[in-house]
Amino acid sequence: MDCDVKDLGLAEKGRERIEWAAGEMGVLALVRERFEKERPLEGIRIGACMHVTTETANLVDALKAGGAEVALCASNPLSTQDDVAAAICDQSGIDVYAIKGEDNETYYRHINAVLDHRPNVTMDDGADLVSLLHRERQDQLQEVIGGTEETTTGIIRLRAMANDGALKYPIVSVNDADTKHLFDNRFGTGQSTIDAIMRATNLLLAGRTVVVCGYGMCGRGVASRARGMGAKVVVTEVDPIRALEAAMEGYGVMPLRDAARIGDVFVTVTGDRGVIGREHLEVMRDGAVMANAGHFDVEIDKAALEGLASGKRRIREFVDEYRLADGRRLHLLAEGRLVNLAAAEGHPAAVMDMSFANQALSVEWVVKNRGLLSPGVYPVPAEIDGEVATLKLRAMRIEIDELTAEQQEYLRSWQQGT
Ligand code: ADE
Repeated sequence: MDCDVKDLGLAEKGRERIEWAAGEMGVLALVRERFEKERPLEGIRIGACMHVTTETANLVDALKAGGAEVALCASNPLSTQDDVAAAICDQSGIDVYAIKGEDNETYYRHINAVLDHRPNVTMDDGADLVSLLHRERQDQLQEVIGGTEETTTGIIRLRAMANDGALKYPIVSVNDADTKHLFDNRFGTGQSTIDAIMRATNLLLAGRTVVVCGYGMCGRGVASRARGMGAKVVVTEVDPIRALEAAMEGYGVMPLRDAARIGDVFVTVTGDRGVIGREHLEVMRDGAVMANAGHFDVEIDKAALEGLASGKRRIREFVDEYRLADGRRLHLLAEGRLVNLAAAEGHPAAVMDMSFANQALSVEWVVKNRGLLSPGVYPVPAEIDGEVATLKLRAMRIEIDELTAEQQEYLRSWQQGT
């Protein structure tokens, strides 16, 4: 295999953890079973740029069972689980290029290594692979049938490309499936972000003030889980409807310039840059902790933090303590990168099960519709979304009611009123 991983000796540990995750991924297992029989991806080369985790290992395994040849690199320099990368390389016949903590140069060398496999389908999480392909390797674009994108930030970038007329092939927005963003973004980010903050700091959240910047699906999840741990939660927003929703949910809502003075823990989940800046750092309490759960490390202004600091030390594995001239200490987790994947294990497998079943089925859909889709961003077909929900309920042994014939008729009629 042509792999660049930290240590192949970690493969056995990775294998066991991948197997453990598989036990939580019943929907993906059913997709894999069918793929193995029908081989819908026979002859397809998939270039995947994803977080290299136990859940992703199960996804690439399902794609391979469907007949695809897969090459995989990391979608974030800090999110790779090195034992998993080793196990995928060692057992799966999949070329993996991912090392936790890789520098920027290595990160892009790894994406280029995946592109060297000349993929017909791209699978991206954040759109770095698609962006590089369109900027630097345009000669390969005509070989690509289509792609999928996992996350909100990636979709925003792809829509910007489409608006500029720059996007050259069809890409399915997996993030927009209901069975993805209503669950992964909310319950996945909610749990894994709190998990990461606790693993990194071992702080007691009860009674503390947690400031959540951004109240999209991910922010909703983080706020709700922080409240569940007994924190007083303050939400900051720029969108009046989301702010209103947070207020009626019972959270404090205020501008960050005010929240900055009272927060103990800050979590950014906005998808935008410079959310926590110098003016906020200048008024934060001694001991404040900052974590980012948005895709890129641009939400907390690290340059401003460095500029204000007179000293810096790594006080725990994922905690950098910045000492300011006035004696205050501010703490940044995981260098401002996606905290839930850097300092914990990302979303639990049971929720990635739905996201990755959508991924696998969307790849199949793209391949089936080869030549029929013009360049652009496409939603996950409603049948796929519905199938994933039905299978997940079955995996969870939950039954639901059905409409009677009379109820269906009532919903179709307009004559009956008061
Ligand atoms: N994104 C968030 N959590 C993840 C996980 N566990 N695996 C892959 N991608 C993720």
